[in-house]
Amino acid sequence: MKVTINTLREAKQHGQKFSVVSCYDYTSAVLCAAAGVDVFLVGDSASQFMLGFTNTVDVSMDFMIAITAGVRRANSDLLLVADMPYQGCSNGRDETVKNARRFVDECGADIVKIEAAESDFDTIKAIIDSGIAVMPHLGIRPQTGKYKAEGTTAEVGAAIIELAEKSVKIGAQMLLLEGTAREVAKIITQKVSVPVISCGSGPDCDGQVLVLPDILNLKEGPVPKFSKGFGNIGKAAIEAIALYNSQIKQGVFPDDEHSYHMKPGEYEKLIKSIG
Ligand code: KIV
Repeated sequence: MKVTINTLREAKQHGQKFSVVSCYDYTSAVLCAAAGVDVFLVGDSASQFMLGFTNTVDVSMDFMIAITAGVRRANSDLLLVADMPYQGCSNGRDETVKNARRFVDECGADIVKIEAAESDFDTIKAIIDSGIAVMPHLGIRPQTGKYKAEGTTAEVGAAIIELAEKSVKIGAQMLLLEGTAREVAKIITQKVSVPVISCGSGPDCDGQVLVLPDILNLKEGPVPKFSKGFGNIGKAAIEAIALYNSQIKQGVFPDDEHSYHMKPGEYEKLIKSIG
């Protein structure tokens, strides 16, 4: 059954949580869909996890379009959130609206997520007015390069609550809160009618998102405090690749079972023809 923004609104009304995974390619998306996840988010964290950059701002608009379309090919029923990369929203309002439209037209995205400060509201309103659903991303905004928890003081907490309410007032259909104090995230979730996704903002939001490499423990290295690994796929992957590597070197793989053969009589003909 198709998951729509309305499905998630209803889930919120019934107090049912939903799950979101930030993933970047067709094969991973097939796995997420098979696991029963509700929403794909193709995050600009692809910049780090797929391309090895140290930040999220180096990923290009075209790359995000290519991978978002790939994730959509995996499943047409899950809600697909496209993430507006820095390079897609740094050339003025009209260009940003055009880029948001590309995610809908070229990738089948249902909603576009955009990191939002007060100064971005004109642009966000322009995207909404063009008929595209928007999910403002508040709290920690990785495109600023700052990764400190947000809303840990009354003053900043109140400012985030105000931004969240203003977002909904101008027509935002969902919200994402990253790295925001649990207390603030809870107030926002209770105050707004739209579904609120937490990325490290505590358990009281309507939905939760983590990036797939962290869920799977795909690579070693520091992870945010809010992240949790639910498997050890990185270790299992290294073991499998190491076995492949050693079987090649020992001449064990490939064997005859993994080889094609010429049709009967063709080998003899070939040998004769090449002398
Ligand atoms: O880039 C990303 O993957 C994200 C989510 C983790 C919220 O923005």
